[in-house]
Amino acid sequence: MAYTVPQLTDYSAVALEKAAGECVGACSSEAAEVRSDADLKAFRDRWLARKNGILTQINDVWLKGAPKEAKRGAGMRVNGVKTAVEDIIDKAEYIRLELSTATSGAVDISLPGIRRPIGAEHPVIRTTHEIVGVFQKLGYSVAEGPVVETDYYNFEALNFPPNHPARDTQDTLFIAGQQAKPQRERLLLRTHTSPVQIRTMEKMRPPIRIVIPGTVHRNDPPDASHSPMFHQIEGLAVDTNITFGDLKGTLDHAMKALFGSSVKTHFRPSFFPFTEPSAELYVTCFICGGSGRRGPDPCRPCKQTGWIEVLGCGMVDPNVFEFVKDTGYDPKKVSGFAFGMGVDRLALLKYGVDDLQYFFQGDVRFLQQFD
Ligand code: PHE
Repeated sequence: MAYTVPQLTDYSAVALEKAAGECVGACSSEAAEVRSDADLKAFRDRWLARKNGILTQINDVWLKGAPKEAKRGAGMRVNGVKTAVEDIIDKAEYIRLELSTATSGAVDISLPGIRRPIGAEHPVIRTTHEIVGVFQKLGYSVAEGPVVETDYYNFEALNFPPNHPARDTQDTLFIAGQQAKPQRERLLLRTHTSPVQIRTMEKMRPPIRIVIPGTVHRNDPPDASHSPMFHQIEGLAVDTNITFGDLKGTLDHAMKALFGSSVKTHFRPSFFPFTEPSAELYVTCFICGGSGRRGPDPCRPCKQTGWIEVLGCGMVDPNVFEFVKDTGYDPKKVSGFAFGMGVDRLALLKYGVDDLQYFFQGDVRFLQQFD
């Protein structure tokens, strides 16, 4: 017997689910009976017609008849039924179209085909994969960790003592209502990927070589070069006798692999609580080739200096190893280096995009350019 929309008296969740299930089920069975274009039209009209189509009736009978307190639940059900029915009808139309071309044997090759948009990697993710790939070829494996992190992993075990001023440069969002917990257990959105250094060393004994891609958060209002959420790639290598020379050689190789064999690297002293000594790595500007000029114009990306800062790095501070001594990281026996870079900024430079916000607005007109 053909399906008709029942009156509802019981608006409980169970009753609504049963009614919705019967309706969608009926639609599926009818879709399976479609044999011709005429069937398809009749089927479509029966369900979708504005005037008195089944979806319209459901709206009228179920929703308008619902008691006030059940309106919201009923509304959600009706919307669910609508989406499901529209999907079924879309599929029936697609199958009909394919069948009619296949059975008639007459394909009009002058007609345009059905074009389905193909997804593509987001430029930031693509850049991430490229960078991770360079290190994988050097024997690094990939590690990941949680974005909601404890104060212990994000700060304390990385040698940021409570109240240390270096914490100010990495202000972030803290999860509310945790005053009762000891500070080290309080949750926050991680400000860098460095906590995964500790998490990995707790699980894996030395030697290790890992890269850690992921999102991080800071209290930076969005503008052309800042975003409260951005992406980093961290690196960590620990073994016996790792030296600053290994750090320099590894990063010099990686920069040449990423930006071309003619780039030069340059290390300047810096400070991070979890590395000692620490440095910032600069590469010759890959936009102007290091000259600071583009023809008669000044080069903007490197602010005419010919150098671009790409990452922070350094030798793992022995104080950090103290936190993971139990898994074999005795600071007297092992040494290591670490580095961390911002992927979004590299993607900006690489693709010549002038506003970071484009990466996160999800506007297809922007994203389509990277197909
Ligand atoms: N975590 C640092 C930052 O976010 C970068 C860094 C990583 C520096 C590893 C040194 C070693 O700024």
